[in-house]
Amino acid sequence: MAMYSKIAGTGSYLPKKILTNIELESMVDTSDEWIQTRTGIVQRHIASDGQMASDLAFEASCRALDAANLKAQDIDLIILATTTPDMIFPSTACILQEKLGITDGPAFDVQAVCSGFIYALATADMFVSSGKSKNALVVGAEIYSRIVDWSDRNTCVLFGDGAGAVVLSQSEQPGILSSHLHANGGYSKILAAPGRISGGKIQGTPFIAMEGNTVFKFAVKALEEAAIESLAANNLKASDFDWFIPHQANIRIIKSTAHKLGIPMEKVVTTVDRHGNTSAASVPLALDLAVRDGRILSNQYILLEGVGGGFTWGSILLQW
Ligand code: ACO
Repeated sequence: MAMYSKIAGTGSYLPKKILTNIELESMVDTSDEWIQTRTGIVQRHIASDGQMASDLAFEASCRALDAANLKAQDIDLIILATTTPDMIFPSTACILQEKLGITDGPAFDVQAVCSGFIYALATADMFVSSGKSKNALVVGAEIYSRIVDWSDRNTCVLFGDGAGAVVLSQSEQPGILSSHLHANGGYSKILAAPGRISGGKIQGTPFIAMEGNTVFKFAVKALEEAAIESLAANNLKASDFDWFIPHQANIRIIKSTAHKLGIPMEKVVTTVDRHGNTSAASVPLALDLAVRDGRILSNQYILLEGVGGGFTWGSILLQW
C-alpha cells in the first residue's frame, strides 16, 4: 500500500515584543503610510536579546507536538529551516533536539532562506513517505532582526522574527501530494547577507542587501510558475485549491500572484500585515494560524509556496 506523509499537528510562536510602523518612523526616514501601501506590513515581532532561533523553534515545536497528540520522544527526525542559526555549529536542529530532550534520530538544518520551510517539508516527506521516519518535526525559525541594518530603511521595515512547526507522520491517506523545488544561483547577488567569519572577524557586510524591485518581480514570476507546475503535476485547476499559503514578503507580491493565477484573495492566507517577512518561518506561521482559527478543514487542498534568496523557490501541494 502506498504510504503518504501527512501533517498531524501544527504550532507557532511569536516573540512578545511588537515593533510598529509608527515606532519605525522615529528610527529611519519612513512613514506608516509608505510601509503599509508598499508592503502591507503594519507590525512585526522582535525577539528579546536572550532569545535564539532554537528557543522560538522549541515553543513552536511543543505546540505542534501537543496538536499532534505526540511526545517529543515520538519524533525520529528533525529538519529545521533557518538563515539565522544560533551559532556556526552545531546546527540549530541539534540544539532544538537537546531542548526537546531527545537523544536519537537525525537532526539537521536546511538553508534555503525564505523557501527554507518548503525545502525542509519536501525533504521530510521523502523520509516519512519512504518509511525511513515515522514522525518528523519540521520547523522554520528565524531572527531576522539580528541581520537587518536598523539604519537602512530599504530593508529594516520588511522583516520580523518568529517560528512555525509541523509534525509530519506516516499515513495511508494523503497527505503531501507533490513537492517541487528549484534554485538558480545566478540570482545570488540580488538578495544576500554577504558577510562571513574568518580569523575570528566578520568579513564583508553581515546585513541584508537587496535590489527590492528585481526581487519583487522575480518573486511574482517564481510563485506563479511554481503554482502552474504543481497544478499540472496533480491534474488540478487553480479553482480546485481551497487555500493558497505563499511566502509572506509583501502583500503586493501575494496579490499579484493570486491575481495572475485567478485565485480570489478569500482563499489566500495572509499574515504579512502582522508578522512582516519572517523568512523560513512565514509559511508554517500562516498555516498554523489558519488551522487554529478553523479555516482549514479535512480533505481540503492546500498549496504552500516559498521563494527567497539563492534564488530558491518551490511548492508543496497537500490534502488536509
Ligand atoms: N520608507 C520610505 N521610503 C522608502 C522606504 C521606506 N522604508 N524604502 C524605500 N523607500 C523609497 C526608495 O528610496 C525610493 O525612493 P526614490 O524613488 O527617491 O529613490 C522609493 O521609496 C521607491 O522605492 P522602490 O524600490 O521603487 O519601491 P517599491 O514599490 O519597489 O517597494 C519594496 C520597495 C517594498 C522593497 C519592494 O520592492 C519589495 O517588497 N520587494 C521585495 C523585497 C523582499 O520581499 N525581500 C525580502 C526577501 S525575498 C522574499 O522574501 C521573496
